[in-house]
Amino acid sequence: MNIKTCFGISSCKGGVGKSTVACNIAITLANQGYKVGLLDADIYGPSVPTLLGIQDKEPEVIDGKFQPFEVFGIKAMSIGFLVDEEQAVIWRGPMLTKGLDGLINKTNWGEIDYMIVDFPPGTGDVQISMSQQLKLTGAVIITTPQLLSLKDVIRGINMFIKTGVPILGVVENMGYLETNGDKNYIFGKSKTKKTLIKEDIELLEELPFKEGVPQSCDSGKPYCFDFKNEYTKQFENIVSKILSKSAN
Ligand SMILES: Nc1ncnc2c1ncn2[C@@H]1O[C@H](COP(=O)(O)OP(=O)(O)O)[C@@H](O)[C@H]1O
Ligand SMILES: [Mg+2]
Repeated sequence: MNIKTCFGISSCKGGVGKSTVACNIAITLANQGYKVGLLDADIYGPSVPTLLGIQDKEPEVIDGKFQPFEVFGIKAMSIGFLVDEEQAVIWRGPMLTKGLDGLINKTNWGEIDYMIVDFPPGTGDVQISMSQQLKLTGAVIITTPQLLSLKDVIRGINMFIKTGVPILGVVENMGYLETNGDKNYIFGKSKTKKTLIKEDIELLEELPFKEGVPQSCDSGKPYCFDFKNEYTKQFENIVSKILSKSAN
């Protein structure tokens, strides 16, 4: 196994679009010709299998190792294939270590330029121990623009700082609707940028609430695989920023 760079995609709350963004970052990197892995480590709500349409499958085991699924030009593996979802919520240290070991060392990833890790939301022990074990190059935090979510973001940033993982930036998701070129800010004008400036963290992109994205998630076909438009350009921008930051 040879994984060159590993990015953690994190959020402090569920439902902000973390998995959707993680998946589309992975696809955007693959579209650019990189060898990409998508590792779903969200023990509380693994959704990568659904996002990639592989939820009813089982990973193949060859010579005692899981074969990652090869779909849409990326390799993918999910904690959802290794544990019973009902048990995930009661996961503690040793089980967690074992599960992660399955995803990292017992999965036959081969050569990977960029590994994208879909983290569980939150800032507890599970997240801290995961970021240490996964040896992240950097973390990207996903948020919606509500103030409550932003407060959690600051907490998340502090957690990564504590574990020595550099924060590459924040992606704000679903803050506005775009109609005929006009932006309609659903939650009111976003305070994300102002809040982040104080923390010296870059706002990498402000993604809209985009028609077609929920449908692409449900149908198991990533949006950036199928379309090319302003929204997919925003992902190219995110990717270019995180690549240049992690190359430093
Ligand atoms: N930019 C977007 N526009 C529209 N819907 C989105 C967007 N991002 C995510 N969603 C939808 O929001 C829901 C939650 O996204 P998900 O990625 O599962 O969140 P999380 O991983 O943070 O729990 C999904 O139904 C997804 O399709
Ligand atoms: Mg998710």
